[in-house]
Amino acid sequence: MKPTISPSILNCDIADLVGELNKISNADYAHVDIMDNHFVPNLTWGLPVVESIVARDILPIDCHLMIEDPDRWAPAYAEAGAASVTFHAEAAGAPLRLAKEIRAQGARVGLGLKPTTDIHDYLDVLDAFDMILVMTVEPGFGGQPFLESQMNKIRRVRQAANKRDLELAIQVDGGISRQTIQTAAEAGADVFVAGSAVYRSDDAYQEVEELRRLATAAMHNHS
Ligand code: DX5
Ligand code: ZN
Repeated sequence: MKPTISPSILNCDIADLVGELNKISNADYAHVDIMDNHFVPNLTWGLPVVESIVARDILPIDCHLMIEDPDRWAPAYAEAGAASVTFHAEAAGAPLRLAKEIRAQGARVGLGLKPTTDIHDYLDVLDAFDMILVMTVEPGFGGQPFLESQMNKIRRVRQAANKRDLELAIQVDGGISRQTIQTAAEAGADVFVAGSAVYRSDDAYQEVEELRRLATAAMHNHS
């Protein structure tokens, strides 16, 4: 299994989005955090920004929707050309129907879980999703410390997916850095979001390389 690196542009230089995306051309995706100031106490961008960066075709776009009523808004992000659309379990009214709608638009679909949300209710429906996003911070802001308490959730998802032979990606988001990426990889995560670690480093490209190297080593040891 190879790691997927998806840097979050939340804390990049927003006035130069194209330049900032070009800096991470060696990444697998660009992770775009959509926040509505209701589901989380922060506000970012919406559909027009996603449409505009999809059109530049620099990297596949991994949308993380931290919004209320994703049932209403999420399919449009898939339709806009996002490669992956993740909505939150806590916000969705009909997560299985929504997952189907997103897949029907040709995008991968992810289910996000806040740190205090149990995976238990979703273990029987994992095949409805391409990815489970285990948040390792309370969603809303970059630069918060990694919650190691979430490793057990990652292990449970990985075990359940293996048992049923599902090709399920497990994304980890929040506090991922050189110091924490191997812990998450060893627990079973394979898609790594890193915001401040990448954009607060001197060389974003090199940081992506280093995170990939560390994750690859940890995943190799683990398998
Ligand atoms: C937080 C966002 C993250 C954020 C991560 O709610 O979902 O994607 O950008 O930032 P770091 O890597 O700094 O924790
Ligand atoms: Zn995110």
